Amino acid sequence: MTVLDVVVWPAKVLETKASDVTVFDDAFRKFVADMHETMKASGGIGLAANQVGDLRRVLTIEIPFGDNRYEEGEVEEETREWWHNKKFTFVNPVITKKAGKMKYQEGCLSFPEIYDFVDRASEVWIEAKDEFGKTFEIHATGLMAVCLQHEIDHIDGIVFINRMSRLKNNMIRKKIMRRGQLSTPEPV
Ligand code: NI
Repeated sequence: MTVLDVVVWPAKVLETKASDVTVFDDAFRKFVADMHETMKASGGIGLAANQVGDLRRVLTIEIPFGDNRYEEGEVEEETREWWHNKKFTFVNPVITKKAGKMKYQEGCLSFPEIYDFVDRASEVWIEAKDEFGKTFEIHATGLMAVCLQHEIDHIDGIVFINRMSRLKNNMIRKKIMRRGQLSTPEPV
């Protein structure tokens, strides 16, 4: 397996809508395995294909039990859910139903050091295919639901700062652009 390079914003591929996967062959499954490897190596709990520069509708998720640290308000003792510590691959995922509301302090591998609260549904019902092209459905709650909405946004070309207030979105954009300028080496 190969650890791929994670693209950081403002790369254009992060704000480009991805296309459905139509070919489920060994090369595709190798790519999915590389995505899992990349996600793990980067310390992420979710990864969308455009974050590694590929415009196919694929995402990987693996949420370790004990990672539920950033929920707003009173943080209850975390309960072990069926989706903890499991490797998930969602190909061509579609949200068929949403319910409830929650706020979670999200981060993103494509936005190093940026963490902020985003409004999300607390439950989602998803229809997707696995890496072999087989259709499955899941009902996700809590952090799994948040993660799915964040990653499905990615393949739609929507980055999480676009889900924040206009003011915050602009502030973060400017901050990152400034940081980019600062890190440009001085001419010699
Ligand atoms: Ni992300």
